[in-house]
Amino acid sequence: MTATSLRPLTPPSEPGLDQIRRSYWITTFGCQMNKADSERMAGILESMGYDEATGEFDADLVLYNTCTIRDNAEQKVYSYLGRQAQRKRDNPNLTLVVAGCVAQQEGESLLRRVPELDLVMGPQHANRLETLLQQVDSGQQVVATEEHHILEDITTARRDSAICGWVNVIYGCNERCTYCVVPSVRGQEQSRLPEAICLEMEGLAAQGFKEITLLGQNIDAYGRDLPGITQEGRRQNTLTDLLHHVHDVEGIERLRFATSHPRYFTERLIDACADLPKVCEHFHIPFQSGDNELLKSMARGYTVERYRRIIDRIRHRMPDASISADVIVGFPGETDAQYRRTLDLIDEIAFDQVNTAAYSPRPNTPAATWDNQLPEAVKVERLKEINALVERNARERNARYLGRTEEVLAEGINSKDAQQLMGRTRTNRLTFFSATSADGHHYQPGDLVNVRIDAVRSFSLSGTPLPSNPVR
Ligand code: SAH
Ligand code: SF4
Ligand code: F3S
Repeated sequence: MTATSLRPLTPPSEPGLDQIRRSYWITTFGCQMNKADSERMAGILESMGYDEATGEFDADLVLYNTCTIRDNAEQKVYSYLGRQAQRKRDNPNLTLVVAGCVAQQEGESLLRRVPELDLVMGPQHANRLETLLQQVDSGQQVVATEEHHILEDITTARRDSAICGWVNVIYGCNERCTYCVVPSVRGQEQSRLPEAICLEMEGLAAQGFKEITLLGQNIDAYGRDLPGITQEGRRQNTLTDLLHHVHDVEGIERLRFATSHPRYFTERLIDACADLPKVCEHFHIPFQSGDNELLKSMARGYTVERYRRIIDRIRHRMPDASISADVIVGFPGETDAQYRRTLDLIDEIAFDQVNTAAYSPRPNTPAATWDNQLPEAVKVERLKEINALVERNARERNARYLGRTEEVLAEGINSKDAQQLMGRTRTNRLTFFSATSADGHHYQPGDLVNVRIDAVRSFSLSGTPLPSNPVR
């Protein structure tokens, strides 16, 4: 860890100040990995005696947990930081922290850009927040971005939901997709031990959590850095083994996992998902492009044919499974014909949801240096067209729910209507329903409820709880 001072040292806090409770504010950008890290950092801050502030501009400590997957994500952070830097000039006791992927990418140069910063910390240092803040308190500007073995977390995360929780199972990514900044900001793969994962899940079950999503940037890589080969010569500690292992955690009713990589998505895994009742029938498997040449230049390591076979196999075992994915348009060299193959694949598979993105050149990635970049206008045009297709597909896929009864896990009150609960189907459809059934039963967050679906929209459903619920 480096302690850098590019500005005069601020004196340690005045005596007496420690007694006043300080408040914190965290804004999280980016993916579920960052959300999970933010929950852990919030837990650390609360264990240090911080209270959550009422807003970003009232807080004594502001932490931005940042994302750099595309340029617009990175730029957003600088505009947020500008406002806080201004505030800090009037209020030197404000502590300003940049965590996450921009912090890792930019490191010390962030201090040059925003000298008001107190702490710049990469994602591998999330669990070390307390130690790092102690160094800040002694008057240093701190940059923590070196490769770090991620310690098991001893603090309790402050989780946003009391029903659905995230559990990291593997950090980092060893793939080298030519467009992607993640390996350089998240570092080498580090799998957590199955026992540690189980222990965390048992703790969550004891607190009343009902659904767990196992998290990794490339979750199918889980365990390849852990020891263990079976007598039959098969690798142990795969994601499939882990699913079997954590399935026994009592009180947890539903399991999900993300993000899957088509290169490693095995038949064994599909069978486990079909056979294990707690594993929900929703799969997020990014395909990125519908053209084999492009997949090759992206270094994805699979073909469109393989992707189709995975989806066929999933639908063969779980006919109603919902499938979502990520796709990039406007990758360097993408011809119109190649782009059309992506559209065709989307139409053919009939995805439930697809996250779309226009290619954005990223620092330290091979594709950013190629000279066959497409004009911005072409990327924007393709993005618009593909978004319309995705939305049409989503609407058509959602139509199948009309009149059906779905098991919904109630997660909370609908923020727009206090008489309603919101939750998700097993296939991850956001669903709103009345908190009271016709026979007068009141449902609570945490209940599994059979809901008859009365209305379908592109991205959500509404329905009526059946009498004589909950399911369990
Ligand atoms: N690990 C996952 C995805 C991680 S990043 C996977 O392998 O698929 C989330 C998504 O952001 C990616 O799936 C991709 O669609 C998109 N993305 C990543 N880098 C990008 C870039 N340089 N430009 C545009 N989109 C990008
Ligand atoms: Fe990025 Fe590829 Fe790793 Fe996904 S698998 S995080 S796209 S390098
Ligand atoms: Fe963004 Fe980092 Fe996640 S770059 S998508 S927050 S791993």
